[in-house]
Amino acid sequence: MRIKFKLNGKEVTKEVEVHKRAIDFLRDDLKITSIKEGCGEGECGACTIIVNGKTVHSCLMLAVELDGKEIITLEGVEDSIKMAFVKAGAIQCGFCTPGFIISTKYLLDNNPTPSEEEIRDALEGNLCRCTGYIKIIEAVKIAAKGCENND
Ligand code: FES
Ligand code: FES
Repeated sequence: MRIKFKLNGKEVTKEVEVHKRAIDFLRDDLKITSIKEGCGEGECGACTIIVNGKTVHSCLMLAVELDGKEIITLEGVEDSIKMAFVKAGAIQCGFCTPGFIISTKYLLDNNPTPSEEEIRDALEGNLCRCTGYIKIIEAVKIAAKGCENND
């Protein structure tokens, strides 16, 4: 089936098998390898992308469901958010990082000045085995400050 959608602001038209998952299509066919597969079951958040303004697990979605949608992956996220993760030292192995950055973008797009509790709630669906989360929370606070300063 031929599908057409916007990926990080660019129109994409591509043939896809109807049973292919969105994560496999984006990683294998479009080489968006920032999307990671941790659990493959909607539990870890490593495969999180934004589809029409909402975060979704691309491991639980079919590629054909992307038809007509606007997709944002790590590649489409503003550098200020990515740099906040670097500044806070919130990246260790980095496997979970794209998913956390996508969830952070979603949070800040909808709530530019989140409380710590709101940050924790927003990141609830993302798991990290390495950092203990404290530096990730710090990264989101730095990113939020950056957004504030840009306003
Ligand atoms: S790989 Fe999709 S939620 Fe874990
Ligand atoms: S930095 Fe390794 S899983 Fe999060």
